[in-house]
Amino acid sequence: MTQNSLGATPVNRYESATAWHDVDDYFARHLTPEDPALVAARQSGAETTMPNAEVAPNQGALLGLLAQVVGARRVLEFGTLAGYSTIWLARAVGDHGRVVTLELEEQNAEVARKNFERADLMDRIDVLVGPAGDSAQRLIAEQAEPFDLVFIDADKPSNPAYLAAALQLTESGAVIVIDNVVRNGAVAQVDSDDPRVQGVQAVTRDIAAHPGLDATAIQTVGVKGWDGLIIARRR
Ligand code: DHB
Ligand code: MG
Repeated sequence: MTQNSLGATPVNRYESATAWHDVDDYFARHLTPEDPALVAARQSGAETTMPNAEVAPNQGALLGLLAQVVGARRVLEFGTLAGYSTIWLARAVGDHGRVVTLELEEQNAEVARKNFERADLMDRIDVLVGPAGDSAQRLIAEQAEPFDLVFIDADKPSNPAYLAAALQLTESGAVIVIDNVVRNGAVAQVDSDDPRVQGVQAVTRDIAAHPGLDATAIQTVGVKGWDGLIIARRR
């Protein structure tokens, strides 16, 4: 066994992925327990076109906390799937809040609607079905009331287009969160030919070049493997 930088032998004998899961489970049990509606939403992810892509419980709770810190009343989500993160966000905006969530596939939207009904949240969530970019353009054309928080978690090659739309649908103080920006470290491969990685790299460049955005990126490990989030805020 190798020694760490302090010269001590690490006591942790876990394989790292096992330890990540155990720690996620520990905090999920203690800090971010799922009620039956969230458990059902997570399990129904299996019926979507992308099983197991929903955020982890601690990530859902982070989204909810961010929405509360911002005092968000209106949230826009790119990528619904079974609506797991949508439930965390819809609970955070409260009775008078609204979440608009954009989903490509009617099959997934149907699963999500059932989850929102089970969670008694249908009255504060709009599911817009179709390509998320098209739905966002419709919101722009309709001059939708600005959103306070945007969660971008749909097809990764479209991240730059979703950021551009988010910037048209928000004002000063709004927070924009982007999921899956690390992808097992692939984001740092400058010559990656994976269009999903390129989508993350392009949106990172766009954020960096935007004078009105403060942003950071946080790597995460856990039940979703090694990944991460960008968190940006409009000045
Ligand atoms: C993938 C997409 C996600 O949104 C996610 O959270 C995990 C994986 C994917 O494209 O593989
Ligand atoms: Mg994701």
